[in-house]
Amino acid sequence: MDSTTRLFEQRLKTNAVKVEAMLAAVLTDTPLADEIDRPAPLMAAMRHGVLNGGKRLRPFLVLETSLLLGGDADAALRIGAALEAVHCYSLVHDDLPAMDDDDLRRGKPTVHIAFDEATAILAGDSLLTYAFDIIAAPETNLPPAQKLDIILALSRAAGIGGMAGGQALDLAAERSAPDEQGIKTLQAMKTGALIRFACEAGAIIAGASSDDRQRLRAFGEKIGLAFQLADDLLDLTADAETMGKATGKDAGRGKGTLVALHGIAWGEEHLARQVREAAELLEPYGDKAAVLTEAAQFIASRKS
Ligand code: IPE
Ligand code: IPE
Ligand code: MG
Ligand code: MG
Ligand code: MG
Repeated sequence: MDSTTRLFEQRLKTNAVKVEAMLAAVLTDTPLADEIDRPAPLMAAMRHGVLNGGKRLRPFLVLETSLLLGGDADAALRIGAALEAVHCYSLVHDDLPAMDDDDLRRGKPTVHIAFDEATAILAGDSLLTYAFDIIAAPETNLPPAQKLDIILALSRAAGIGGMAGGQALDLAAERSAPDEQGIKTLQAMKTGALIRFACEAGAIIAGASSDDRQRLRAFGEKIGLAFQLADDLLDLTADAETMGKATGKDAGRGKGTLVALHGIAWGEEHLARQVREAAELLEPYGDKAAVLTEAAQFIASRKS
């Protein structure tokens, strides 16, 4: 374990246990009120795509930013689980033959391999919709105005101008190479937006001041860009067994990445700078933000 991220690693683990339990609890075969039925194969595919050992970094960010600003822990856990459902949907669809065409995810066969393509598409659809159910449901103990704020922010982060739009730009970039600004925009959308949301959500849950909300949002933006930069570096430098997914694919598919444009050494230097700047944003919170500062360091130094 890297001594500079020890606190982070412990908290990532304890938070992941809670997130895992929440996700398992909401993904049972028992229909909720006004659901007519829950088809067993669809539920099995959804569980396969979610309960399969992700790092749970995005829920971690929701929980820890909420804790930093004094938000309700149970509400943060439900929002974190909802965000993880959106993230897992994005992975299920990202791996489809029409997109990145990957057979391995989190060390296991992807959903369309373990089930079939149609089931994978529908499992993704259902996870996305269910995320908003988890937020809106009465069990999420937040005032209606805050729930609406969360729903709007997540919609903007996950949809046209966020993750899904970014995925569209990512696929278009396989055919016509974008310039540096084009790559930054597509990465801020496809990966950055959900990570930015994770950090901003903590501020919304806590009913924080707009200053705090802006600061957390800026922190999320920085680590979001750093996260995809690290993913692109790992695609070049790590092996599939460690990563639990195929590596060495981006260059082959002509993916537009900053690492492809500027090289590995530049990528590592740029990554370190993003992390320094992210940490500076949290300085006003002092030691209370130590675990989040470590999270930024982990993002840059992660091996999987
Ligand atoms: C992978 O995200 C997809 C990207 C946005 C690069 P993670 O590296 O957080 O994947 P899991 O959730 O831990 O599997
Ligand atoms: C994924 O980017 C971004 C998503 C919205 C899922 P990648 O395609 O690089 O993610 P991996 O490498 O397959 O996890
Ligand atoms: Mg992709
Ligand atoms: Mg992919
Ligand atoms: Mg990748």
